[in-house]
Amino acid sequence: MSTGLILAIESSCDETAAALVERGARTRASVVASQIPTHARYGGVVPELASREHLRAVVPVVRAALAEAGVGFQDLDAIAVTSGPGLAGALLVGISYAKALAMAIEKPLIAINHLEGHIHAVLLHEREAALAARQPDPADEPALALVVSGGHTHLYLAQPANGAWRYKLVGRTLDDAAGEAYDKVAKLLGLGYPGGPWIDVLSRFGNAKAVPFTFAQIKTKLHLAGKAPRTKAARTAPIATLNPHFLFSFSGIKTAVLRHVELNGMRAAAEARAPLTLANPKPPQTREAALELCPQPVLDLVASFQHAVVGDLMKKTFAAAEALGAKRILVTGGVAANRELRERLTAEATRRGIRAAFPATALSTDNAAMIGAAAWPRFVAGEFAGPDLSADPALALGV
Ligand code: KG4
Ligand code: ZN
Repeated sequence: MSTGLILAIESSCDETAAALVERGARTRASVVASQIPTHARYGGVVPELASREHLRAVVPVVRAALAEAGVGFQDLDAIAVTSGPGLAGALLVGISYAKALAMAIEKPLIAINHLEGHIHAVLLHEREAALAARQPDPADEPALALVVSGGHTHLYLAQPANGAWRYKLVGRTLDDAAGEAYDKVAKLLGLGYPGGPWIDVLSRFGNAKAVPFTFAQIKTKLHLAGKAPRTKAARTAPIATLNPHFLFSFSGIKTAVLRHVELNGMRAAAEARAPLTLANPKPPQTREAALELCPQPVLDLVASFQHAVVGDLMKKTFAAAEALGAKRILVTGGVAANRELRERLTAEATRRGIRAAFPATALSTDNAAMIGAAAWPRFVAGEFAGPDLSADPALALGV
């Protein structure tokens, strides 16, 4: 009898990952090779370098995953791979490898949308916990999913449909993704890369009320009607079709931080800090260490920035949950690792009688276990990819 063992491969951005997941519920191995050191000095992902690093890493990462699980190619039931959205060259490395392997070992190939993968990181976690507690599968019920990462800030209504899942886009960012704003603000302040974990840790030592950042109410302007959003993220329905209360915009706060930095003479110190943080890739964990790196006004600034971003993510997510009658919220993607977002969103959900679920921290950022989990319902439904599978850098999820 088949064990429902799927080898999943993820290479859409700056992590080469492979995982072995059984029946979408049990992670036998999950290996992630991060390219952070390669891109850190540029303060962002360099696509050409990413493809080169994926080429180097894909074979060793798959081998490491197989070894960790103690299985061989003959034990696999299928191979799953991220087909988009993401960087074209990066996606192609994973896809080419997965296609060749599927052909060689004569196993089906399953194409997975990276965003669907992020949603399944939470579902995997729930199923895994139920399995460990010897409890039945948690009942699959409709959920509002906030996918918040370096490339996306999207709200989806996720609904189970005969074992598979269907998604409807209900909100999104008009410009930058939340994680992108974190990364840009960190770069501006001379903090390490990626910026999210740095700002998350440093915020603990700052006064979140020091700088009053606000988010303007977004109105669907006539000139946006039918236009694609100004982002590199997945293709979606025209913005004018979405409820303006569920739209995000993070480029304004980035500009407000820049203005604050310039008006308060913080620029020179930020530039001097950059080489320092490159040499010390981990954010400082104590107040003393944080103050050695940056003065109190910078700690106050990052705390205020984070407070505002988290507040805005919550406001629109809860507005959508309420309007759609969702009793369950799934928060996923790199920014879901954020401590303040986890704490405040969970507290507010409890107050409203809504269940909020986050993936384990390691599954918040890019990984392949989430791709293996998303592949399971497709495997069961026999939704396989053909030999012509190619990368789709702007692949949309749902409609
Ligand atoms: O999901 P992910 O690994 O890759 C994308 O698909 O984009 O997300 C990476 C993003 C980066 O922008 C990073 O700064 C952000 O997630 N991030 C965080 C935290 N950890 C990672 N943002 C806020 N707080 C964190 N703790
Ligand atoms: Zn991602």
